[in-house]
Amino acid sequence: MSVPELTLNNGVQLPTIGLGVFQASPEETVGAVRSALETGYRHIDTATAYHNEEAVGQGIRESGVPRDELFIETKVWIADYGAEATLRAFENSARKLGVETIDLLILHQPAPHHWEQTLAAYHALEELLGQGKVRAIGVSNFQKNHLEALLKEASVVPAVNQIELHPYFQEKSLVAANAKAGILTQAWSPIGGITFYPGWGGSEARSTLKDPTIVSIAQAHGKTPAQVMLRWGIQEGRSVIPKSVKPSRIAENFDIFDFELNQDEMKAVDGLDTGVRGGPDPNEF
Ligand SMILES: NC(=O)c1ccc[n+]([C@@H]2O[C@H](COP(=O)([O-])OP(=O)(O)OC[C@H]3O[C@@H](n4cnc5c(N)ncnc54)[C@H](OP(=O)(O)O)[C@@H]3O)[C@@H](O)[C@H]2O)c1
Repeated sequence: MSVPELTLNNGVQLPTIGLGVFQASPEETVGAVRSALETGYRHIDTATAYHNEEAVGQGIRESGVPRDELFIETKVWIADYGAEATLRAFENSARKLGVETIDLLILHQPAPHHWEQTLAAYHALEELLGQGKVRAIGVSNFQKNHLEALLKEASVVPAVNQIELHPYFQEKSLVAANAKAGILTQAWSPIGGITFYPGWGGSEARSTLKDPTIVSIAQAHGKTPAQVMLRWGIQEGRSVIPKSVKPSRIAENFDIFDFELNQDEMKAVDGLDTGVRGGPDPNEF
């Protein structure tokens, strides 16, 4: 099955669903990427900070899927912000991934207390875009204040803002600000991973997977809670990048194109927002 695509503000096409690999060890990552590509995924989201870009490259090569069918996204870590440092970070990521061109390169997060370096890093992304070394550029974890400050200085509007977004944390005003600027919202933790993964203050009790509203919608469709959350995300026009290292879940998360949530169900999920962020406050990095 070919994956439905979203069109970025520069015309580049991005598959609606991709595989995330945060917290996946290199060994797990190779298998997860291969499994995802066998399932039909064509988009992988990694980051320098995940220390698994080489494993992503290996999984891609082992899959045999041609490079031009793939969309590879990675992130520049804050330690690499700065004109020269960010250009070097691109070279390192491309080498580790084993590719010449990166489809989407984004700044992992704003560094509000080192804003000049954040801007210099973004200008380096613009330079890489101008040179054709990346096909699109963007940001992650940028709040409205960061976007406003960036847009005053940028010559290229970011194509994507990747932010924490799941039923318990919906960031509606930031999503609206992204849309107003022509920036696609990409949801991290799209099935609410941050509400339940160990060591982050998550708990079984707070897990989006156990939410009674989501569970009952899932039952009505013969689907799983994860599938309902991903379907909700793509019906709202977002890019979703669920992470799993388990082949059965990788397949489950991809199997979301044969059902549709109705308006009441969409509203019910919209109504679950708690306004409570799971991850760190992007103004405090
Ligand atoms: N830009 C940023 O700052 C940032 C921050 C966080 C994440 N991200 C990106 O977003 C991606 C996704 O976010 P995330 O990893 O935080 O959370 P997520 O995708 O919402 O959830 C991942 C968690 O859910 C489990 N899982 C996956 N599919 C499942 C299913 N069908 N049923 C039950 N459990 C399931 C996974 O475990 P198993 O692997 O054991 O299946 C993992 O513990 C990341 O991998 C990364 O690429 C970006």
